[in-house]
Amino acid sequence: MLADKHILLIIGGGIAAFKSLDLIRRLRERSAKVTPVLTKAGSQFVTPLSVSALAGEKIYQDLFDLTAEAEMGHIELSRAADLIVVAPGTADLMAKMAGGFANDLASTLLLATDTRVLVAPSMNVRMWDHPATQRNLATLKGDGVLTVGPNEGDMACGEYGYGRMAEPLEIVAAIETALSDGPLKGKHVLVTSGPTHEPIDPVRYIANRSSGAQGTAIARALAALGADVTFVTGPADVPPPQGVRVVKVQTAAEMLAAVTDVPHAEAAVFAAAVADWRVSNAGPSKIKKDGNGLPTLEFAENPDILATVSKLTKNRPSLVVGFAAETDDVIANATAKRLRKGCDWIVANDVSPATGIMGGAENDVTLITADGSEDWPRMGKDDVAKRLAAKIAEAIA
Ligand code: C5P
Repeated sequence: MLADKHILLIIGGGIAAFKSLDLIRRLRERSAKVTPVLTKAGSQFVTPLSVSALAGEKIYQDLFDLTAEAEMGHIELSRAADLIVVAPGTADLMAKMAGGFANDLASTLLLATDTRVLVAPSMNVRMWDHPATQRNLATLKGDGVLTVGPNEGDMACGEYGYGRMAEPLEIVAAIETALSDGPLKGKHVLVTSGPTHEPIDPVRYIANRSSGAQGTAIARALAALGADVTFVTGPADVPPPQGVRVVKVQTAAEMLAAVTDVPHAEAAVFAAAVADWRVSNAGPSKIKKDGNGLPTLEFAENPDILATVSKLTKNRPSLVVGFAAETDDVIANATAKRLRKGCDWIVANDVSPATGIMGGAENDVTLITADGSEDWPRMGKDDVAKRLAAKIAEAIA
């Protein structure tokens, strides 16, 4: 799968740089070509000679290296690869990327490229948790940068937590996903997921029990088939998948704004459990228990995002898929919902508490299309996602 793929590997200055030597070996075992770039700080951890020897390629270290410029300029170097991998992705490199700095070879390549970039963050847990790093991470994800890890565990500095670079084979898997030549390569697919939170006042909100597990699995399955996925998610319990563009929202109104903001998508899957109503008299300050009786909440109807997109006359995705979580007359209700909302397919499921589906690992769905309904056996949410992604690929590829 990686045969003849060209990876530009930027090795930053972190203790995990030693794992990047193994990463080079693993990539070469799979017949990928690895062009290494070693930052100044990276060369404090691994030697240019070992990197270059393992890669079997010339190593690039300096922005103003005249020989290298004569052979291959830095702009060309940044674009010749199929994927740029930054491992270890230090806090400093991530900050430079997020800020658009170009003051050494690595940052210049990252700014000059139009190739996709995968970062394997690696740093001390406090540095990872620092708001500046988390802000940079959110910026990079918004820019479409892919990430793998970091993992949780013991750190070289003696502390414990998130910050360990992903293992070489995990990085290889993320590279394979990013480069997958699946049937959805070049197709943009939008996925909404998770619940929405509708504020009552600044500290309270109305929510629902959606974990975001099914939407996340669908986004992951679509990305694995090569789709370029935009994942618009409410506050879910599960982390968003790797390798997709993530847009985080809280309310239905924010979700609609985010959905209308994304570039044209060939397909859209609305797996979010959007609140039907919002509190229209939500105040700017906390409602007090002041002995003057119970507060009265007034409600307004939220926009129906699925119906809005389904009824677009311009730039409508060619395939719009909705979900119908029902507790009674599942098929009849979902069939009517497909027509009412104007979507192409509805994935219907019974979310009565007895089924254990909402918040659980399994799902039991019926796919409803214009041609009728297809009952799928109960299976894991990942398997439902894979089957749905394959059907989407058939429909739009
Ligand atoms: O009407 P109901 O909430 O059952 O419809 C479920 C489907 O509609 C899901 O696909 C959900 O993501 C979508 N939906 C939406 N915006 C809303 C309500 C539901 O996109 N305000």
